[in-house]
Amino acid sequence: VKPHPELRLGRAAAGMVRSEIRGIVEQALRMESPPIRLEIGEPDFATPEHIVEAADRAARDGKVGYTSNAGIGELREALSSKVLTRNDYAAASDQIVVTAGATAGLFSVLRLLADEGDAVLVPDPAWPNYRMMCSILGLEARPYALRPDAGYLPDLDEIARLLDARAKVVVLVSPSNPLGRTLPPETARAIVELALSRGAWVIADEAYDELVFGDRMVSVAAAAPAPNVVSVYSFSKVYAMCGWRVGYVVAPAAVADALAALQEPITSCVNTPAQYGAVAAITGSQAPVAAMRDAYRHRRDVALAELEAQGFDALVPDGAIYLWVDIGSTGLGAREVARRLLEEHHVAVAPGTAFGERGEGSVRLCLASAEASLVEGIRRMGRLNECARTPREKTLDLR
Ligand SMILES: Cc1ncc(COP(=O)(O)O)c(C=O)c1O
Repeated sequence: VKPHPELRLGRAAAGMVRSEIRGIVEQALRMESPPIRLEIGEPDFATPEHIVEAADRAARDGKVGYTSNAGIGELREALSSKVLTRNDYAAASDQIVVTAGATAGLFSVLRLLADEGDAVLVPDPAWPNYRMMCSILGLEARPYALRPDAGYLPDLDEIARLLDARAKVVVLVSPSNPLGRTLPPETARAIVELALSRGAWVIADEAYDELVFGDRMVSVAAAAPAPNVVSVYSFSKVYAMCGWRVGYVVAPAAVADALAALQEPITSCVNTPAQYGAVAAITGSQAPVAAMRDAYRHRRDVALAELEAQGFDALVPDGAIYLWVDIGSTGLGAREVARRLLEEHHVAVAPGTAFGERGEGSVRLCLASAEASLVEGIRRMGRLNECARTPREKTLDLR
């Protein structure tokens, strides 16, 4: 049979936005001698042993069937206590839905809270997947700026301007990827109230909630306990469980019910042994989390010192596992810096442009690499500064 000329991919496939970080990853993987990998946001630690054991035991005990769409009761109960004691707000277990990572949670929640043609306010710079999700769902990803001169925090006047009748969701991220900035409670509260008054939802992406280096962060739902807040969490980074694909959404019961129902035709439920592993993660010792957090903090400090030694300015992150580095001193654009570092110096970094227009002039380094690699990677970055500094420029450099 001759294929009909109209046999083609749908709109979502044709309009798909690709992640620039993926491009770097693919190139790094193809290289003959492996480069220093600072581009990807994945912990270099193994999943703590007691979590692996719990999942293993569950599988051996025959806990391998489908679970309820919202996840096993034991995990939802444990998460309800976790949210109360570690995020400082109350949510009953029927307000919690276990999802295939925060990614699937975010995608499904966006599907539920906004209709095709609606707008979603997303930070710029931000994790690129929000824009990809919006593109697939037929939503307009409307960027709001996180500017250095505003401490990389959202500007309330700008949010107010962007929140028109078509804007149905504001995405807040704390601590953020790629900036590592946590949101002060008063900023969170002001945005939640503004959104509520305009009939918009707030999605609080707190995938790195327990990877905060100073005082515990204030969750958006704790700062502003309002009926328009939906919070999204992940086991990926906090427990070094990226590939297990477990996350969860905490939402008003009506949203949680709809989300559980939506999971039926998408994933049905999260991998059952992985859910038992997640119970062990939440209820077991938190010492491994503290150890990983301490390691990231230590690497952050070592890397910041090396960046300074190499002549780079960088934002000091409050949390998460990234460094946002100003590459203005190289005189090159972010893509060019990423390309040259990889091709000429064998260091993979994420160009700031992967995170939005405001990422131009920066690159993101991941702290989830061995300290020695991080330091060596930054030293090699310094070579771009050396090239940029001709004697004439040196005398003009007033910083
Ligand atoms: C801000 C942010 N939210 C969500 C996620 C997704 O996490 P998960 O592995 O749980 O899907 C990531 C992953 O990098 C992230 O950086």
